[in-house]
Formats: sequence, structure tokens, C-alpha cells
Amino acid sequence: MQASSGSDGGTVTPWWRNTVCYQVYLRSFADSNADGVGDLDGVRSRLGYLELLGVDALWLTPCYRSPMADHGYDVADPRDIDPLFGDLAAFDALIAASHEHGIRVIIDLVPNHTSDQHEWFKLALSSPPGSPERDRYLFRYGRGGDGTMPPNNWPSQFGGPAWTRITETHGRKGQWYLHLFAPEQPDLNWSNPDVWADLETTLRFWLDRGVDGFRIDVAHGMAKPHGLPDADPAGFGLIDNGTGPDARFDHDGVHEVHRMIRSVVDEYPDRVLVGEIWVSDDERFGRYLRPDELHLGFNFRLTTTDFDAAELRTAIEHSMSAVAAVNATPTWTLCNHDVPRTVTRLGGGKLGLRRARALALVELALPGAVFLYNGEELGLPSVELPDSALRDPVWERSGHTRRGRDAHRIPVPWQGTSPCYGFTEGESSWLPMPEGWDELTVEAQLEDADSVLSLYRHALEIRRAHPGFEGDELEWYGAPEGCFAFRRPGGTLVCVLNTSPVDVPLPPGDPLIYSTPLTEEGLLPPDTAVWLS
Ligand code: NOJ
Repeated sequence: MQASSGSDGGTVTPWWRNTVCYQVYLRSFADSNADGVGDLDGVRSRLGYLELLGVDALWLTPCYRSPMADHGYDVADPRDIDPLFGDLAAFDALIAASHEHGIRVIIDLVPNHTSDQHEWFKLALSSPPGSPERDRYLFRYGRGGDGTMPPNNWPSQFGGPAWTRITETHGRKGQWYLHLFAPEQPDLNWSNPDVWADLETTLRFWLDRGVDGFRIDVAHGMAKPHGLPDADPAGFGLIDNGTGPDARFDHDGVHEVHRMIRSVVDEYPDRVLVGEIWVSDDERFGRYLRPDELHLGFNFRLTTTDFDAAELRTAIEHSMSAVAAVNATPTWTLCNHDVPRTVTRLGGGKLGLRRARALALVELALPGAVFLYNGEELGLPSVELPDSALRDPVWERSGHTRRGRDAHRIPVPWQGTSPCYGFTEGESSWLPMPEGWDELTVEAQLEDADSVLSLYRHALEIRRAHPGFEGDELEWYGAPEGCFAFRRPGGTLVCVLNTSPVDVPLPPGDPLIYSTPLTEEGLLPPDTAVWLS
């Protein structure tokens, strides 16, 4: 059974404050019906593994009805399951089984946009300009004498303009509709009351089915600036590399949406809201975590910071101070389905793996909630695929100038010595799996005490059981050039990282776990982290 929120000296600590949550990218986790795409029954069949790994919760990427233009982030019916992934009975079975394994389940919520196949959008297209049906989305006339220019200069995150022109069936010149992502993902108009009411219905639908919370997609989206004006192109970030100020996102009106979501979720005990917040300014980031908004927000700083102790320390300090101002909990994430895998980003090969192992120990030593991405615990790299295998809409939308995110979404290898490594019993997986992953499978790594999987299992076990992890604070020690050391002052744990090219001495303490063995003299080698007690 699940552990309930803990009690500490009379104060109840909510479970999510120090949770380790495992992201299941549904298409790529486990396939139960041999069609080459992961599904809900596949996840259920692997819950024993997640329990063995030692995670507390899982975040399931969208399983709603969808034409899959953006692999489920284009939702045609937010209150039904896509047949590709199963059905409502499979969903209920997964929730029940997860809870039996002591694992909570957070599901994705996509409030910024729908699919172009959503009933509302189809109605909007068949209704005249200015109609209530159109008003649920952001339709505008174009610029230029005949309206052939988009209404403003915004680009789509996936490439090309953020506007698509429709062919009117009402005999007037065609309007354009806004889509910050693919054209198949029209943005909703959050000034329209129908949109609010429908999201509330969706929230209750899944809360009543027993979900433990929501991961809110594009939580910094939804609200748009009045009049949808042109913006300074310098601010336009790209989803796979940008965090700068961007006029399309982070408008104050979005906080009203989060307050509504929170008020509904608060009617259900022990649930959590975690937002995808690509906002780099600490103060503006913290606004999403005020007491009546989201509980947690993904802070993506560690996904873009180089393997350098000083830079990592700065990233950690920013992440902590962004939430401290509103008395919220920090979160840590090294990678997800939108960004390069850690091993690859940190140099690839043996070096990348060694650094990824070190960073994992740093991440798991920090106070707050940790989000792991499926396959991270296996040390999977990103894999460049041939053009013909690419499936991310980014590839087409960018006119083949950006390869997109497929490289980071290769299915999980479970067992065996050749593709598809037990991911599917079908002949192929939706993204091809490479040869040579036999040593990366779960099966191979479970048996190997030195594997990345064993490192994660061991670290998670210590994190769960050791008293050294108490408290919400960090205390930094002086450390040699290229290194850092911090202590959790509520407990006894010390974490030391060496990103320098030389072996360094350690502060006093007994090693609990290290990412690479210490030298014979007891020094910490380059690209290594250790926990001391
Ligand atoms: C963020 C999701 O993580 C990403 O995969 C998706 O493409 C966009 N939001 C649009 O929904």
C-alpha cells in the first residue's frame, strides 16, 4: 500500500515534498499488444520493476484520445483513452495496481490547446467568424490588404508561423487560428468561460478515478497578451533549447487558471499539481508556486547546465531561491522526453556516462522532489535516427532543419540481446531501437552491481531510509577548484562532486555511495560524486 503523507513533530509533510517521481513516456515504456507502441497494460506489467527501482510515483504522459500529431499532446477528447493505449478499464486497472504497489500516479493535463480533431475545433471550423464556437479558440483575420499575412509575427515552437489560415465555408475571406505548437494543436481561448468549465469537468473526471495529481503541460501558456501584438523576435525560444523571456508565454492572466485548477484539486486530499514552467526568471517562476497555485514546478536549469561545479552550484542555488521566496518545494530533473538525455548531453560514451552517474548522485542528494525520465536509470543515450525514422512534428514543421526530439524517446530495452529487447513482441518498435544495447537492458543491469541501474537503486534506497536527508536546506562547504560539497543541515549527509581533471581529497565522513570508485588513497577522482555520512 502507499505510504501516506508523513508526520514530523505534529506537522504533516505532504508526500510530494520529497517524492521520487518516474516519468513514463507511454509510447516508449512497454508494449503489451505487439503493435510496437507502449500502452497502459504494458505499464501495469512493469510495476514490479518500478517498485524494485524504488520510486514513489509515476508521471504518465498523455493517454487521451488523440490523432497523435504530437504523440498525444494533441487531445481530441480529454475524458477518454486512446485505443492505441488501451481503454478506461485499462486505466482504472493501472491506477489500482499502482496503488497496490505503493506507487502514486500523476497524469498529464493539456490545457493550452486541443487537437484539431476535437469536437470544439470541428464546430469552430463549420461555424461563422464571430460565432460562440469560434470564440473557444483564437481566430483572427490576417494582415495585408487581402488578409494573406498572419495576424502577428509569432512563430510556432515547432517551426513556421504560429498561425494557419482556414478556408471559410461561409463565403468570407479566411481567418487564421493560433497554434503555439503544431497546426494540429489549436490554442484555446482562456477568455472564454466554456474553456474554464470544461477543464474543471476534466479535472474531476480523473480525480474521481483516483489519480494522485496532474502534470500541467505548458503551464506558462494559456493566457495571451491583449490584442496578440507582434513581439521582439529575440525573445522567441525554442522548446528544445530556449528559456529566455518570450512574449508568447508567462502572462499574468495564467495565474487565475492555476488558481481555479488548485481550488478543484484541493477538494481531493493529498493530490499534487506540477507545472511545466519554462520561465527562467526566478521571481516570475516562483509566482506559479504561490500557496493557491501549483504545488511543484519543473525547474529545467539542470537540463541545460554544463558539467562544471561552479555552474551547477549556481543552477542549484537559483532553483532553490526561486521557490524559497514563496516557501515552495524545489524540483530536480536532468532530462525528459523533450530534451537530450543526460549521458549524451554531457559528452556521450564513457565520459558522458561517468558524468551522468555523478550528476544522478548530486540530484538525489538535493532537498525536494526528483523527476526521473524512463531509461535515465539505465544510462540510455539519445540516439540519432535516420531521416526516414523521424516522427516528431518538429522535423517536418522546421522544413527538415531541426531533427526534433525522437532521439530522446527511444523505447526502453527490457531484456535480450537484439532489438526490440522485450519492449514489444511485435517485429518493430515505433522508433527503431539500436543494435548493441544488450548491456543496457534492465535484465543485464539488474544482475550487475556496477550498473547505472544498481547505482540508482542503491541511491534511492539510501535516500529513503537514511536519516541524513532531513530538512529543506543546503549548506555549502569550501571545496577545491572544480568541486563542490554541500550538506543537508537537517541531517548528516554530505555530497561532494568533482568536475575537475584531478583527484581531490574528501572532507571527513564515511562514504555511503560513490558514482565511480575512490582511488586507493581514498581520493575522489574526476567526474565523480560521493555521499558521505
Ligand atoms: C510540452 C510537452 O512536454 C511536449 O512534448 C509537447 O510537444 C508540448 N508541450 C506541446 O504540448
